[in-house]
Amino acid sequence: MGATLSWFMPKLYKPEAFALPDGIYMDGNSLGLMPHAAKKAVERRLTDWAEQAVMGWDHWFGLSESLSPALARLVGARPEEVIATGSITTNLHLLVPTFYRPQGQRRHLLATELDFPTDLYAMRSWADLNGAELRLIPSRDGHTLHPDDIAAAITDEIALVLLPTVLYRSGQLLDVARWTEYAQAQGCVVGWDAAHSIGAVPHQFHDHGVDFAVWCSYKYLNAGPGAPGGLFVHERHLGTVPALRGWWGNDKTSQFRMENEYSRGEGAGAYQLGTPGVLSLAGLEGALEVYEGVDLAQLRARSLELTGLMLSLADELLPEMQVITPRAEAERGGHVSLQWDHNKQVSLALRARGIIPDYREPGIVRLAPIPFYNNEDDVRGTMQAIREIIDSGEYRSVGEGSAVS
Ligand SMILES: Cc1ncc(COP(=O)(O)O)c(C=O)c1O
Repeated sequence: MGATLSWFMPKLYKPEAFALPDGIYMDGNSLGLMPHAAKKAVERRLTDWAEQAVMGWDHWFGLSESLSPALARLVGARPEEVIATGSITTNLHLLVPTFYRPQGQRRHLLATELDFPTDLYAMRSWADLNGAELRLIPSRDGHTLHPDDIAAAITDEIALVLLPTVLYRSGQLLDVARWTEYAQAQGCVVGWDAAHSIGAVPHQFHDHGVDFAVWCSYKYLNAGPGAPGGLFVHERHLGTVPALRGWWGNDKTSQFRMENEYSRGEGAGAYQLGTPGVLSLAGLEGALEVYEGVDLAQLRARSLELTGLMLSLADELLPEMQVITPRAEAERGGHVSLQWDHNKQVSLALRARGIIPDYREPGIVRLAPIPFYNNEDDVRGTMQAIREIIDSGEYRSVGEGSAVS
């Protein structure tokens, strides 16, 4: 551990706050471990339900909004600019049609060929419905995006750009401020998918003038499988009526008047559709407690320290693997990705040893050392285990088990 950062470790490193499995968990970029606070919060809401039945709605009614201040801090937003709701996919389906305003030749949508598939499916849905094209920023190496290619793709034919803050396979971190400013200067609306950065990389969505953003909360935020994601809409757009509307987005003060006409709720809450899943929200409610008092800059610094160690150990111990994560600190998120033809088997062999990595085709092992519950020993243990698995040929004898998650 770097001496410079060690003084804040007791606060940041709190494995006792999580349900830690035996072994080493390196998959917090896919599904974060359960914080005990999340379990308690879910149990609390179950007790509410048992004891209060429908009267529970008196306090569940504003539950999503009550989480906004904590969420807003994570993305550098004002509380009214964010809301916990939906999934990345549904939130894209809410925000893209709201902010996609084709006019004349400026009518196409732009994403990247390295995006998570659901982003492309959602974007293509709206392109198809409008007789427009979904254009994709190409990648030169199949792993990362080159700034010249991003810039070249943002033309006066593009109405809306969606970019990933961190690319899900390689872990490349894009410069949100730079590309937001650039695309807006070309006349485009800019949205971001922050799935792989929220809770790991601090953002300044408000100050950087981001038009909209979406994220999930089951990765670094540790809110649980399928927990509600979230969205950000910049303050300057908060008067815009959502293209797709539901009663939960109605003005809260008149929602239960049951009027036939929608009246837009205040803030990003207007993008909610139907009744929220209170038990899932409770997971997020508890998980956000883990972030209370945590300095996000320190969290990021510690994450960089751990991924930096991982990168140097990859160079030292695993010469057969290609490191596809950018080396520069400003260009990498919270995970390190290594590519090798046999990495699916390596992942399964790691699991058999109680070390949980993440695997994505083709041949990519993703490893995320999480400052809350991983340390240098975990990083070294993981990298040494991979070396042993290769040297011993252990990876050749693992079965065809699933490595989808
Ligand atoms: C970048 C990115 N976008 C979207 C998703 C999934 O979206 P949803 O939360 O709608 O399932 C993931 C899931 O891992 C992801 O990594």
